[in-house]
Amino acid sequence: MYEQVSHALLNDILDELDREVCREDLRHFFTRLGANFYAIHSLFFHLYGHREDFKNQMVHLTERLARAYIDRPAALKQVDMAREEDHNWFLSQQWVGMALYSDGFAGNLQGLNEHLPYLQELGVNIVHVMPILKCPQGASDGGYAVSDFRDIDPRAGTVEDVRALADSMRRRGMLLTLDVVVNHTSNEHEWAQRAREGDPDYQNLYYCFPNRDVPDMFEATMPEIFPETAPGNFTWDEEMGKWVMTVFNNYQWDLNYSNPAVFIEMLDIILFWANQGADIVRLDAVAFLWKKIGTTSQNEREAHLILQLMKDCCQVTAPGVLFIAEAIVAPSEIIKYFGEDAVIAKECEIAYNATFMALLWDAVATKNAKLLNQGIKSLPNKLDRATWLNYLRCHDDIGLGFDDADIRACDYDPYSHRRFLVDWYTGAFEGSPARGRPFGVNLKTGDARIAGALASLAGLESALEAEDQHAIDQIADLILMLHAMILSFGGIPLLWYGDEIGTLNDNSFLNDTHKASDARWIHRPRIDWARAERRHVSGTVERRLFDGLKRLIAVRKDTPAFADFNNRELIDVENPHLFVFLRTHPSLAASSVLVAANFDAKPQYLDLDTLNRRGLFRYGQIIDLASGDSPAVFNNRVVVPPYHFYWLANQRPGALLDDPFGVSRHP
Ligand code: GLC
Ligand code: GLC
Repeated sequence: MYEQVSHALLNDILDELDREVCREDLRHFFTRLGANFYAIHSLFFHLYGHREDFKNQMVHLTERLARAYIDRPAALKQVDMAREEDHNWFLSQQWVGMALYSDGFAGNLQGLNEHLPYLQELGVNIVHVMPILKCPQGASDGGYAVSDFRDIDPRAGTVEDVRALADSMRRRGMLLTLDVVVNHTSNEHEWAQRAREGDPDYQNLYYCFPNRDVPDMFEATMPEIFPETAPGNFTWDEEMGKWVMTVFNNYQWDLNYSNPAVFIEMLDIILFWANQGADIVRLDAVAFLWKKIGTTSQNEREAHLILQLMKDCCQVTAPGVLFIAEAIVAPSEIIKYFGEDAVIAKECEIAYNATFMALLWDAVATKNAKLLNQGIKSLPNKLDRATWLNYLRCHDDIGLGFDDADIRACDYDPYSHRRFLVDWYTGAFEGSPARGRPFGVNLKTGDARIAGALASLAGLESALEAEDQHAIDQIADLILMLHAMILSFGGIPLLWYGDEIGTLNDNSFLNDTHKASDARWIHRPRIDWARAERRHVSGTVERRLFDGLKRLIAVRKDTPAFADFNNRELIDVENPHLFVFLRTHPSLAASSVLVAANFDAKPQYLDLDTLNRRGLFRYGQIIDLASGDSPAVFNNRVVVPPYHFYWLANQRPGALLDDPFGVSRHP
């Protein structure tokens, strides 16, 4: 792209760059800067061009990029080059992630380092280490209230420990994911402290107001995120004598991105952690980055421009580093966090598939896949070179953020259907074996979300208590089926620590005053390693789940059709209990796999006639890749047992080199 204004500016900037910066060997940096500068300049201008100091800020930004590049260790620069060569590397089916709190998993960062072999045993090769930056001693929203973005909380370890962990993971072929909480700081952060002391420059990093005039205007249209514990979006700070915007908890101050100093500093922090060895940076709460009176202040266009700008800048300094967008918003909005265009308007390579997650839980409670099918059908196509993070549970609650139109299309009433789901998962519904807790209950709007561990939500806790072996077996099947869904859907599966051995709810948070009011702590466990040892004891549920999951992970890694090239097709079968989709590899037609899952407690039938008419399974024997066995076929119908799934492929002579379905499904 040739664009004279930005080129002239770039020349000026290069003249103005610090001498020291200019002495370094910056060839690769300049190549990337040249290629991205037009976009960077345009976006930065769009956001901050009205300011008198625009040019200074632009120089300042470029200088930060150059410095971060100079600081980038040689080994990481090599990784950057390798990933530039193989730019679709992260779409491969080889990747399997797990998110964990280092203290809950293994005490601290060193403990985590020592326990990497456990993760490798399972097959996990991406680890998202939950927030470890310095945060308040008491309530800190699980570390999402950061007091110092460049230092590690002493309870977790040191920056040196992070580097050691990153090195050890790199040697093992594992990727490290770290959080950068871009939307807010803790009220103990130095900026907040200085703002409190009355320094206007620091107050301008946040949204501070002397009276309720502006806050009231914002409140008119902004929803509440934590209605029970942190109602409203502003907090009165006595010391400052001002209202400050706090969308999440009252100790989490929202950063003001209309101030370029905020953007430049937060970008620099992203690059800092990239330089400590993070392969992937999880950008927290990105939907909230831009606030506008008269709107919900979520998913604003400027929030997207900020992310594009962050991506373009990171591309210059640390191009091997990926971004995860944490935007738990409506299905049609989530998709936008990949960006509008893979080349000229890229945002995050990875986004949480909150839609799929919630739909899976819907299918479990209703024992049918109606809404799941409908919701996936409505999920917009994503960009190339973008991938989902498919998960069942994480540190957060389950929000029932389906599209109302989809709920209605299944003949449910949105309000009563959501009500049913909350009742089901909190065990209030007659006959439900689930043991979750309500979270984020908003009496004004009637909204509610759900907290609870995977195993307890699925019913394992009740079944174990009742010593009901039949129920235990069925629920173990259900849990493995859910894992199979996130492993085969397309995207990076993200496990939640403890779920691999069926960890149950942990109610000990109720005894901790800093946690008791936040039910999400019920599913943030401390791993019981004695229990984890039972994965080696036959007949235990730990073994059943761990071994089952381990096998599924191994099969996934061996199945090229499970790579994410937007190669999934939902198959309409008449049976509402089944969720069926086809995965075809763009260049290896022979490796196509039909995924079929039965969410019902009774056996269901998958009609092969319908599939045969489409050219699927016309010849030869069908094999289930997950078990290695052939499924039972009766009257040309595959029998899918209760809470069971298949990864079906055709097995016939020569099938390995040929198209298993007798049709080539690709142009
Ligand atoms: C993100 C985190 C959540 C936290 C919130 C505020 O959504 O996932 O745990 O409460 O941001 O930081
Ligand atoms: C809302 C927010 C999400 C946050 C969650 C925490 O869903 O959109 O970002 O993680 O609340 O409960």
